[in-house]
Amino acid sequence: MSPPRPRALVTGGAGFIGSALVLELVTAGWTVTVLDQLTYAAAAGTVALLKATGHCQLIKGDIRNRNTLRDVMERANPEAVFHAAAETHVDRSINSASDFISTNLTGTFEVLEAVRAWRDQHQTGQPPVRFIHVSTDEVFGDLGDGGASRFDETTPYAPSSPYSASKAGSDHLVRAWARTYELDVRICNCSNNYGPRQFPEKLIPRMILNGLEGRPLPVYGDGGQIRDWLHVHDHARALRLIAEIGQAGRTYCVGGDTERTNLDVVRKICDLLDKRLPHKTPRRALIELVADRPGHDRRYAIDAARIRAELSWSPSISFETGLARTLDWYLNHASWWIPSTSAHE
Ligand SMILES: NC(=O)c1ccc[n+]([C@@H]2O[C@H](COP(=O)([O-])OP(=O)(O)OC[C@H]3O[C@@H](n4cnc5c(N)ncnc54)[C@H](O)[C@@H]3O)[C@@H](O)[C@H]2O)c1
Repeated sequence: MSPPRPRALVTGGAGFIGSALVLELVTAGWTVTVLDQLTYAAAAGTVALLKATGHCQLIKGDIRNRNTLRDVMERANPEAVFHAAAETHVDRSINSASDFISTNLTGTFEVLEAVRAWRDQHQTGQPPVRFIHVSTDEVFGDLGDGGASRFDETTPYAPSSPYSASKAGSDHLVRAWARTYELDVRICNCSNNYGPRQFPEKLIPRMILNGLEGRPLPVYGDGGQIRDWLHVHDHARALRLIAEIGQAGRTYCVGGDTERTNLDVVRKICDLLDKRLPHKTPRRALIELVADRPGHDRRYAIDAARIRAELSWSPSISFETGLARTLDWYLNHASWWIPSTSAHE
């Protein structure tokens, strides 16, 4: 007889990173319950994909609702809770921060409290439920132009945007619940992700789809902002390893060792599109430098030495290969992204 499948609850499992994580967990033998409010960021095609795995039940609900969370914890009976539900788009947070404060801060508080209450009621004599907090390198702020310094687990927090401030606050809540209530928590601060099923408001899918349709490619400022890109499958594997063999109370910085300027990324997308679907004018001509976003961080970069050494994790997909595959995914999945874009124009 095969051993029972471990059980996970994934909040935000219908989003970009959450869905990659669910697929990673199911493939590795877990049974998953997803709690997701199905906001604009969760596509119908993603929900269908998760259901088709046969090892994932999806519950539509809001992490800010205490009763919902209590019921979901009972139904999921989880050994690990991965908390990925969040409002995530920096531009939206600048236009209106209120959902960011409420979902990312109050929502995280409610999830922590639900996990704590469930542990206290149901978990005598069992290994404690693990809480894996999916966070970002944006909590560390700005490394400025150039230089060799990188973020690691000792870097002080200095968030710049309402989004990153709300995520920084949620990290502090998670640490406080570990210290005060002895919750088993692990925090993952990851760099910029890319890959399939990312909502087309984020840089890479937006540029792919605009370039495909011959629309302008707006790039903030001089396009010299540097991000450290990681394929979403490599992030999902890191999260699974953190749950399976990581240490309670530990933070892990995760990144791809792939620093690129935004302008470089957009140019690469143009060249890939020109190769796949040649156009009389090269797509680079569509690039337009536009007024910069307020408070725009110049550079992020991660030193992932800890997770590499302790959990034997390293990125498996190079940026060049991953970007080409991502572009092909969007070209081959119009039915996934057309409803996403038309609903928000
Ligand atoms: N995208 C990146 O590059 C990146 C990098 C590092 C960390 N992160 C973090 O990873 C997590 C997931 O990011 P993503 O890019 O997949 O985001 P996403 O916007 O694609 O998905 C977020 C998901 O959360 C759900 N959600 C939002 N509010 C909710 C609520 N109140 N209750 C229940 N569900 C709710 C949405 O429906 C959606 O499915 C976030 O916490 C983000 O901060 C993202």
